[in-house]
Amino acid sequence: AITKIKARQILDSRGIPTVEVDLYTHKGMFRAASPSGASAKIYEAAELRDGDKGKYLGNGVSKAVKNINEKIAEALVPLYKHLADLSGQSGLILPVPAITMISGGKHAGNNLAVQEVMILPIGANTFEEAMQMGSETYHHLKAIIMDRYGSIGCNVGEDGGLAPNISSFREGLDLVKEAIERAGYNGRIKMAMDVAATDFCIGKKYDLDFKSPNKSGQNFKTGEDMTEMYSQLCADYPLVSIEDPFDKDDWEHTKAFTDLGVCQVVGDNLLTSDPKRIERAIHEASCNGLLLKVNQVGTITEVIEVVKQAKDAHWGVIVSHRCGETEDSFIADLAVGLATGQIKAGAPCRGERVVKYNQLLRIEEELGEQAATCETKSYSTSER
Ligand code: PGA
Ligand code: ZN
Repeated sequence: AITKIKARQILDSRGIPTVEVDLYTHKGMFRAASPSGASAKIYEAAELRDGDKGKYLGNGVSKAVKNINEKIAEALVPLYKHLADLSGQSGLILPVPAITMISGGKHAGNNLAVQEVMILPIGANTFEEAMQMGSETYHHLKAIIMDRYGSIGCNVGEDGGLAPNISSFREGLDLVKEAIERAGYNGRIKMAMDVAATDFCIGKKYDLDFKSPNKSGQNFKTGEDMTEMYSQLCADYPLVSIEDPFDKDDWEHTKAFTDLGVCQVVGDNLLTSDPKRIERAIHEASCNGLLLKVNQVGTITEVIEVVKQAKDAHWGVIVSHRCGETEDSFIADLAVGLATGQIKAGAPCRGERVVKYNQLLRIEEELGEQAATCETKSYSTSER
């Protein structure tokens, strides 16, 4: 049973306030903190910000902290049954990590429209091996970028991905493909992208030059152009998963692309982990993967429900971090406990990203044999 709850204001990885809670039970103190995002917020659970411009530019969370300490703490203290239900999962699975290699979009200061180019070490036999493959590939990529773009190209974005000043999807995918080859993992590592296309959708078109200082206006693409480009990229690269290939409200093109069946199509901004939007996407077969951001849902009870909803539809489920992260590692435990099979937690770089992967290494060590068998299953099911 929970004996005490204490909330406080801390900072996320961008130096913006967020909430941390210490929860006490007879087993000890458990600490969790909420990350925060920059992407479209209209469909996700609201963040309560103080709005006092004199403090943290209005982003303080002292009201939320007060609500937890004075109202929520009191209501949650006899909640042991809920905790018991939470741990009632059978069949624990170590997830396949989607490890960020290159950052772009709103997460980096380069001209690249796509937000993240990631790798999926699906050929690994253990989670530890997956991280070794991810780290080695990242460092090979860094050496390639250093060679071609100089040390400035090795600066990292908010997810820890390298951010050379490239501007096309293909340049990014080529660099990562070359790094996989140099690391000797050809065929054992697949690729993934988070396009986050909502960020450059203007009207009904997609501006691939949205960050370029000298826009030509020539690089506006229609939904059909984008669909054709993605299909070609899936044919030319070992690309098995694309997140948010279209705008958050572009159901039509997202569905048309999913229908082609060329890769896993993941809804992040499209779904914002919202049960109603997930329901619609399942009903209309708009996508086949859920990007699950815990603080978009709001409560763990609802998180369990949406995971069930997605799994029942035979979708992939990817537990995800936010761009504004904390050193909290809760999502690692969540991915294993709910057996989601996939996790996205950034690059093997920056403490707030690595802390999630490190927790998964600890969990795998603790589970021993049990983890190895479960993991093999998860790796094979994620290969589409
Ligand atoms: P966000 O971005 O945290 O800004 O929502 C993360 C993502 O797009 O996956
Ligand atoms: Zn995303």
